Amino acid sequence: MELTKKEELMLGGSEGVGVQKAMEILVALGEIYGAERMVEIKSAQVAGVSYRNLGDAGLEFLEEWASQGAKARVLATLNPAGMDLCEWRDLGFSEGFAVKQLRVIDAYKRMGVDATCTCTPYLAGNLPCFGDHLAWSESSAVSYANSVIGARTNREGGPSALAAAIVGRTPMYGLHLEENRRAGFIIDVECRLESVSDFGALGYIVGKIIGNSIPFFKGIKKANLDQLKSLGAAMAASGAVALYHMEGITPEAQRKDVILDDAERIIINNLNKGFDALDSDVDVIDFVAIGCPHASLEEIEQVAKLLDGRVVKATLWVTTSSKVKDLAKKRGILKRIEASGAHIVADTCMVVAPIEELGFRNMATNAGKAAFYAPAHSKTNVRFGSLKKCIDAAVTGRWQE
Ligand code: F3S
Repeated sequence: MELTKKEELMLGGSEGVGVQKAMEILVALGEIYGAERMVEIKSAQVAGVSYRNLGDAGLEFLEEWASQGAKARVLATLNPAGMDLCEWRDLGFSEGFAVKQLRVIDAYKRMGVDATCTCTPYLAGNLPCFGDHLAWSESSAVSYANSVIGARTNREGGPSALAAAIVGRTPMYGLHLEENRRAGFIIDVECRLESVSDFGALGYIVGKIIGNSIPFFKGIKKANLDQLKSLGAAMAASGAVALYHMEGITPEAQRKDVILDDAERIIINNLNKGFDALDSDVDVIDFVAIGCPHASLEEIEQVAKLLDGRVVKATLWVTTSSKVKDLAKKRGILKRIEASGAHIVADTCMVVAPIEELGFRNMATNAGKAAFYAPAHSKTNVRFGSLKKCIDAAVTGRWQE
């Protein structure tokens, strides 16, 4: 890989051991993937934040890097942590877990990373523009940035995204290159899509079939941003889709050569396979989780409307970033949600928090990605359905067929 003079110096240690380590990681990555050079990035989004996933080895790795004086030189935000960084006590997290989690956050802060912990950084101040090069880690955010915004990022691991933040560059390969952004599948959608959960079910089905390829969707007449983020999250979970195009909706779909000549065609005329795979048959619900990917203000408002005048029986979390939670507070939405006994939970989510330690067994969600991961990660049974069904389940403690 060809390096500039400045990059050579960083690799040689002229800016300290922490920067040198970052360059070593990126050069190794670039060589593995055949990158010819580095490209400057606008921002980074770093995964590897929840202490539940990192453990002591991950915590020590971060603390050591921070002690080597490395500092982010572009805007860098974090993926969800294992708990709400402010209200962890009230939500039932243990002191032992919290102490370790806060050390993780502190290590990132010492490296100049903004401790906004969210998988929807684009709703919380880390909003790229069309064509920007990025180094983002979280799969649903990568999908959103590439597909809905038209920015360019590979799906980075936590260390490579942090390394990219520290040197302000990433190796130029994969989805940074125009020629790798063409669709290998045409997905003809012949059924109606209405709710976020419908888009999640579609994403599950398509991801399962196409793996890490790029789909071009036809037949979807309209989709709002919450539906698009749900679709991308589910495709990245059941497959490893990092970019999709949607006719008339996503920005690169209008490129003339966006579909490969030998693209395969798939027809989807119902969503049964998605709902069947993600849903179980439990009846009693003790935990309802909305906000995967992290909820937008509009989604939180919808939850508030469905809850007005009602009281929840099951624990209900609406997960989001601290910034969106602050907005909900300013607009009086937080108060309405809390009046029902539900919580807006910041900085974490139902998959990266230690849910099993909090004692939840049967979870309801409207998110395809959460429904996909929760049984294995959180050891919970899952009911998967529309937002209305989930809120009804929170109020009654039962899932209504
Ligand atoms: Fe975000 Fe957690 Fe879902 S990180 S995409 S809310 S599994």
